Amino acid sequence: MTLLADDTPPWFPLETERLILRDPREEDFDDIHAYAQLDDVVRYMAWGPNTPAMTREVLDRWLSAAGGWPRTEVNLVVEDKAQARVIGSIRLAIQDEVHRTADFGYCFHPDAWGRGIGTEAARAILGAAFGPLNLHRVWATCDVENRGSWGIMEKLGMRREGTFRKHLKPRGAWRDTHLYALLAEEWIG
Ligand SMILES: CC(C)(COP(=O)(O)OP(=O)(O)OC[C@H]1O[C@@H](n2cnc3c(N)ncnc32)[C@H](O)[C@@H]1OP(=O)(O)O)[C@@H](O)C(=O)NCCC(=O)NCCS
Repeated sequence: MTLLADDTPPWFPLETERLILRDPREEDFDDIHAYAQLDDVVRYMAWGPNTPAMTREVLDRWLSAAGGWPRTEVNLVVEDKAQARVIGSIRLAIQDEVHRTADFGYCFHPDAWGRGIGTEAARAILGAAFGPLNLHRVWATCDVENRGSWGIMEKLGMRREGTFRKHLKPRGAWRDTHLYALLAEEWIG
């Protein structure tokens, strides 16, 4: 079965109470770079902190992908409706069409932290994954010390399936990684 036939409609943009998750635009550059350049934001990420050239390269890649459909990997920016500005990004990537499996990840400006924004955006992504995309299993990983990230996943009912010891070495030191996943039959919205 092909998950994404040519005539499959895009499952985005998505709108929640406070957010719009949509394709990136050229004018989002400053908002994206505002958080992508911060040490605090990339502490547990494999990339960054970004120079303007690095953010340029990423946004160019997203913009060029945004022109095509269907696509298995989708990077959306997260716009705060009240401020009409981009405060983060979220990604969903189908990893295995036969077994209907995908992974996702997210990143937000520190101004947005601790207000349930991450949970709201991730809930919308899981809603699309188990709704229009009809996925069977969605997973995500995070550094064991990234309390906010696994806090989101646990709030959404994802189950910790394991911990990869000394899994990544992003900045010269080995880091452990939790794997969380949710099955379609466990999704309660
Ligand atoms: C990790 C991140 C996405 C969290 O986003 P957020 O919007 O602050 O998360 P939420 O407010 O939805 O928090 C979800 C839950 O996580 C827990 N949590 C969040 N931040 C926490 C913190 N600093 N300390 C302890 N628990 C925390 C809480 O249980 C919270 O639920 P509650 O507020 O109902 O108690 C955000 O900090 C971020 O973008 N960090 C930089 C990029 C990054 O690390 N991305 C993830 C890579 S795997």
